[in-house]
Amino acid sequence: MTAASAWDPRALPSLAGRTVVVTGGNAGIGYFVSEQLAEAGAHVVIAARSAEKAQLAMASIRERVADASLAHVPLDLASLASVRAAAEQIAAFRPLHALVNNAGRVVASRRRMLTDDGFELTVGGNFLGHFALSTLLFPALAEGGRIVGMGSDSTRMVRLEPDDLWSERRYSPFRAYAFSKHAVQGFQLELARRLVAAGDSRMSLLAHPGWATSAYAARRAGITDRDPAAGRFFEALTGWVGQGKDRGAWPAVRAVADPDAANGMYFGPQRMLAGRPVPTRPVASSAAPPSAPPSGPTPSRRPASASPCDERRRRALPRFRREQPHLRGRTLCRPHVQLLPPMQVVVGHRGAQAATGARAP
Ligand SMILES: NC(=O)c1ccc[n+]([C@@H]2O[C@H](COP(=O)([O-])OP(=O)(O)OC[C@H]3O[C@@H](n4cnc5c(N)ncnc54)[C@H](OP(=O)(O)O)[C@@H]3O)[C@@H](O)[C@H]2O)c1
Repeated sequence: MTAASAWDPRALPSLAGRTVVVTGGNAGIGYFVSEQLAEAGAHVVIAARSAEKAQLAMASIRERVADASLAHVPLDLASLASVRAAAEQIAAFRPLHALVNNAGRVVASRRRMLTDDGFELTVGGNFLGHFALSTLLFPALAEGGRIVGMGSDSTRMVRLEPDDLWSERRYSPFRAYAFSKHAVQGFQLELARRLVAAGDSRMSLLAHPGWATSAYAARRAGITDRDPAAGRFFEALTGWVGQGKDRGAWPAVRAVADPDAANGMYFGPQRMLAGRPVPTRPVASSAAPPSAPPSGPTPSRRPASASPCDERRRRALPRFRREQPHLRGRTLCRPHVQLLPPMQVVVGHRGAQAATGARAP
């Protein structure tokens, strides 16, 4: 058993023969996660929306790891159609040993924006896109395979309001970002509980990087110098309390590579914002085991104020469910209950309904 602090992020065990998918592996923390896992011998699939950036990242990794085994799969988390297409391509690499759900819209726009399917963009991409990807790839996960979610300490600063997960009542960029991370944390931990209860060897874990900036990271041409000047200035000003994104990658890498990691573990920097990756605790609301399943009557008809995006959600999600081959033949008449129990616990009955569009006709 690795003592919590004895883990050396610079001396990883060999990952030869393992296949790991890293969303957003083209930039920031995800780039360094990909580089470090490739150095340890893993076959790394970079799931990223820009082919050009993914090629740059792969070239940069190959400069350091000449025989790195890498691939790129296009993925835009803000489109369920793209998630479906990516999952299909990624499944060809099965068995998968880990899926690192790293990509994220960190600096959200000042104005509320929507995904292709009509969900608020920050929660829709950071959480729902990853939730969909995880669901689709779950059957391709090897025995003992891991899904690693990227949490955040923003969850300590903003309380989740489950009945406004999609910021329909009120929108602020940081609130939406924190909501997306609450959802990720709650989902991963609930999934872990359910895997343990089912005796499933697969694992659900979390990592957070502390405060990690490009300004303080090892230089990687075309990767660490891509942020806009204002962002670089802000990072240079504040980043000294944290660490570079190369070190910010350590907790997620440990979640993938530590042979002693157990279901539901959450890794973060030793000194909260910086330091070696050690087991840490999530905010209490994410860690709390579910109380009784959300109850209460399902609304018998759609609210009169249903918006065009409600309609788009209603149309998009049933198609998404139909196209999940491993779910065919299951009872889908109440899909928010059948398919999404961990998510329902996270976002409550209303939130799950909103996410699935599963409102009574
Ligand atoms: N940095 C921190 O201090 C910090 C703290 C707590 C948590 N985190 C979490 O750590 C993760 C990585 O953060 P970071 O600082 O490395 O961010 P980053 O440098 O801004 O990189 C974000 C990555 O996510 C990708 N991405 C964003 N939206 C996407 C979408 N719709 N579809 C596919 N890919 C998308 C970006 O792709 P493009 O290059 O195409 O834009 C990029 O690869 C995030 O989940 C973040 O919430 C970071």
